[in-house]
Amino acid sequence: MENRDVKLIEKILSLKRERNAVILAHNYQLGEVQDIADFVGDSLELSQNAAKTDAEVIVFCGVHFMAETAFILCPDKIVLFPDMSAGCPMANMITAERLKERKRQLPEAAVVCYINSTAEVKAESDACCTSANAVKVIEGLDAEEILFVPDQYLGHYVSTKTHKKMSLWPGYCPTHIRIRSENITELRQEYPQAKVIVHPECRADVIALADEVLSTGGMCRYARRDDVSQMIVGTEIGIIHRLKKENPGKRFIPASEQAICPNMKLITLEKVLWSLEEMAPQVRVLEEIRLEAKAAVDRMIEVV
Ligand code: 13P
Ligand code: SF4
Repeated sequence: MENRDVKLIEKILSLKRERNAVILAHNYQLGEVQDIADFVGDSLELSQNAAKTDAEVIVFCGVHFMAETAFILCPDKIVLFPDMSAGCPMANMITAERLKERKRQLPEAAVVCYINSTAEVKAESDACCTSANAVKVIEGLDAEEILFVPDQYLGHYVSTKTHKKMSLWPGYCPTHIRIRSENITELRQEYPQAKVIVHPECRADVIALADEVLSTGGMCRYARRDDVSQMIVGTEIGIIHRLKKENPGKRFIPASEQAICPNMKLITLEKVLWSLEEMAPQVRVLEEIRLEAKAAVDRMIEVV
């Protein structure tokens, strides 16, 4: 490790103690950011962790909707988000106004929003879900008709696992659609022993070729199995850092080197340090919206 990084990390850790802060990082964060975090996980695990932490300050290393969800669950805490421009393009493919319009067209449908959505969209939804619990949340609702927003690919995957009637919003993740079925077919030939694990944000033809469809947290658990020694990983490549670190000796092959989420990479050690020094930028949500959004998030947490 470079001397500059050692100094930076020392400063972050000492300021973190001083501020009574906890650092939460998503599995796609830069390796150096994952390495200084108190907890690294998927969207569901990060929300659960935020909800139960005793720290007064949460430094959230991920994208905006994740920090916003932490605030929705813990309004008494300060949620620092080191780069306000780190948004999720899929979350921005729907607005509350457009959702309201669609709800008027489907008055019988219960609205389930993927956690990759803004607080305003969550506030317009009956329940929230993540890639780890989407099927369970939808099965747990009384309604037979579901409007699922904003990810059409996760929505389509869920529709193959439930008998409910599902209408899908046409959103998608620009990073996961870069993974193509040809990538999987070629890599399977090259690594015939490898298991193919993909995220449900992938295209349906990619999902059809997979051995398992898992959230990023699910992938990390799967990689620990004794019968897995090689994995073709169909998700954002930042996760490879954690997979390798936790499973020395095993081989992890990215399904596509192009599967990079540029927004996830905006959080750096320097920005984490500045946010702790300045106690800014902070993510907040208007109380009226927060309460409505929290009802949708709570519904998800009750189910899992
Ligand atoms: P996970 O909840 O599976 O970590 O997914 C979050 C995400 O943004 C995937 O692109
Ligand atoms: Fe959003 Fe896709 Fe990035 Fe996940 S990988 S944060 S869904 S753009």
